[in-house]
Amino acid sequence: MLSSSTLGYLWENVFLFSYIAVIAVGLVFYNAHLAYDLHRLEALGKADTTTTKRPSPSPALKASDHVNDGKYHLLLAATGSVATIKIPNILSALAKYENLSIRLLLSNSAAEFLRGQADEQPTLEQIAKIKNLDAIYRNADEWQKPWVRGDSILHIELRRWADMMVIAPLSANSLAKLALGMSHDLVSSVARAWDTTGLIDGLREGVRLASAGRDSARKVIMVAPAMNTAMWNHPVTKRHLDLLSNDWGADSRGWFEVLQPIDKGLACGDTGGGAMKEWKEIVAAIETGFPDLREREGAKKT
Ligand SMILES: Cc1cc2nc3c(=O)[nH]c(=O)nc-3n(C[C@H](O)[C@H](O)[C@H](O)COP(=O)(O)O)c2cc1C
Ligand SMILES: *[C@@H]1O[C@H](CO)[C@@H](O)[C@H](O)[C@H]1NC(C)=O
Repeated sequence: MLSSSTLGYLWENVFLFSYIAVIAVGLVFYNAHLAYDLHRLEALGKADTTTTKRPSPSPALKASDHVNDGKYHLLLAATGSVATIKIPNILSALAKYENLSIRLLLSNSAAEFLRGQADEQPTLEQIAKIKNLDAIYRNADEWQKPWVRGDSILHIELRRWADMMVIAPLSANSLAKLALGMSHDLVSSVARAWDTTGLIDGLREGVRLASAGRDSARKVIMVAPAMNTAMWNHPVTKRHLDLLSNDWGADSRGWFEVLQPIDKGLACGDTGGGAMKEWKEIVAAIETGFPDLREREGAKKT
């Protein structure tokens, strides 16, 4: 039996003891929770290495190795719009050409749409098997290996390599970045490093570009904006697009060509402007830009 003085002591300090007990229980749960989070993070890390596994062949690139490969060089980029799911259609339509080499750039958000979550949204591994697609690049590829003097710089090599860059879809965010000259990821860095004078890279010997008619050596960036109707109607969109299409556009012998969006019911349920131009028209614009594409033997006529 406890003496009455001990009981008295316990009773007087009942709040202190319950406080200690609550803290102790709390610590136990907190630790369990931390362990659980850690476990989940590890699982996520593992999942990541498989879903973002780099499709072969390796994307390491030296533009000078490809100068005389007898092919047109298309740099196709997608940024974070739902219309990214049209990328497989665009690639498949271009697979019939024998002398076309394509490198695909994906912003982080764009890659989210191509994770194998639906038939029309295959994984990058599946996409990598499409003919003519020679590499897929993500932002992390810029920093694959710690850079030292003499190493090539991916966004510069991609610029040198490309005969034309097509950003389809171009998100509202990436449009703003282009207009403001921001360049904090791979797609925007290539566009920011574009040879806007045509004096740095020059055209490759024997490679005829439609754009060469209007300016001897300036290569074109074509963009296909795609966004929610409210985003599209926002006044800032017009300002950014005016810069690209008027100030830097083809009409002023510039290097940008805007494939204007169309009106339709959007994936988000709103109806109105801002939907990406039909993917077939984007393919047609690419074909027009490369007038000497050669179809493979037996390729289906479209
Ligand atoms: C499911 C989903 C769909 C989206 N669709 C669009 C879109 O069609 N157009 C757009 O401009 N932004 C869209 N966004 C928002 C962009 O993904 C977001 O602004 C992102 O920062 C764009 O980054 P990026 O330009 O680097 O790709 C969407 C976001 C989500 C989650
Ligand atoms: C593609 O093939 C056609 C037909 O042979 C040729 O005229 C053209 O120069 C080739 N394109 C490139 C970029 O080499």
